[in-house]
Amino acid sequence: MDSSGPVNPELVFSLRRVTEAAACAAFNWIGRGDSLDAGRAALDAMRAALADIDIDAVVAIGEATRGEAPQPQRGERLGRVGSVFKADVAVDPVEGTSYLVRGQTNALAVLAVAARGAMMNPGPVFYMEKFVASAPARGKIDPHWPVEKKLTTLAEVLNKDVSDLTVFVLEKPRHRELVDRILAAGARVALYPAGDVAGALMAAIPGSGIDALMGTGGTPEGVMSACAIRGIGGEFLARLDPQLQTEAKAVKEAGIDTSKWYQRDEIITSDNVFFCATGITTGLMLEGVERTKSHHKVQTMMITGANGERQILTTYVPNERMASIAARDVA
Ligand code: FBP
Repeated sequence: MDSSGPVNPELVFSLRRVTEAAACAAFNWIGRGDSLDAGRAALDAMRAALADIDIDAVVAIGEATRGEAPQPQRGERLGRVGSVFKADVAVDPVEGTSYLVRGQTNALAVLAVAARGAMMNPGPVFYMEKFVASAPARGKIDPHWPVEKKLTTLAEVLNKDVSDLTVFVLEKPRHRELVDRILAAGARVALYPAGDVAGALMAAIPGSGIDALMGTGGTPEGVMSACAIRGIGGEFLARLDPQLQTEAKAVKEAGIDTSKWYQRDEIITSDNVFFCATGITTGLMLEGVERTKSHHKVQTMMITGANGERQILTTYVPNERMASIAARDVA
């Protein structure tokens, strides 16, 4: 139930400062091999920037279960306690850390916001199988179907030939069979070693060059992507898909059903959503941070569920503002 009341859609223009701050803070670590420091700096900047925004936020999901990247704890309060807008948030200060520290493309700072109680809690499971496509595919694809049938149906609803489809897949050993089947069906693959939030968004955005995302990636990334896709329209289906021994044990103990496919609106149960992603390194969707002596130039995708708007904004952030955020301690 969405009990947060009416929310000003313009809030997204304040929220984008959060991912902008994280991206600028992560900039120093591009190509420097230290993922923990990069993540810490970006997370601190996010916390500090959120403290300036009228949103009473509770961290609904973090990356804690994989245990490497610095993440806020589930339940941590962010923003301004007592603000009218009570929200759940999920943050990924550096999505694609492995890209970032090797100086590669496609690293993003990501913030997803939904009305309090509207974000799914995936419990101890870090991995999730996902199927993402644009709005014409809503309700048309049964996730239980074999890959070939999903692709022929997707081609029909998109009014394309299967040979014109491009499917984003994370390049992982677990996806060898999936990739073979996509290729055997006649579609193309776009293989990326990391970064399936960008892949999911591209799959949901018509005309982006990516028609679908398939395969298994992070659950936090999945919930954040579902939030964005609920905002702009598009299909997002997911099934918890533990890959690690520790996860499998926790799943068994918690009695989680890993055969259930969740619909997008079960993962995010309110239209009252916001999503911001700022490029750290230039990638599929966004330009990365550029720094000069006076400012950081950043590009952010902003999504507002209340009006279904998707915007890309380029901001020139004065260096003094970044310095003042970095100097604050709100941890
Ligand atoms: P980073 O850890 O480099 O930030 O990678 C993020 C990511 O690629 C996500 O986009 C994806 O959902 C997840 O990791 C996949 O996890 P794994 O690399 O363990 O398969």
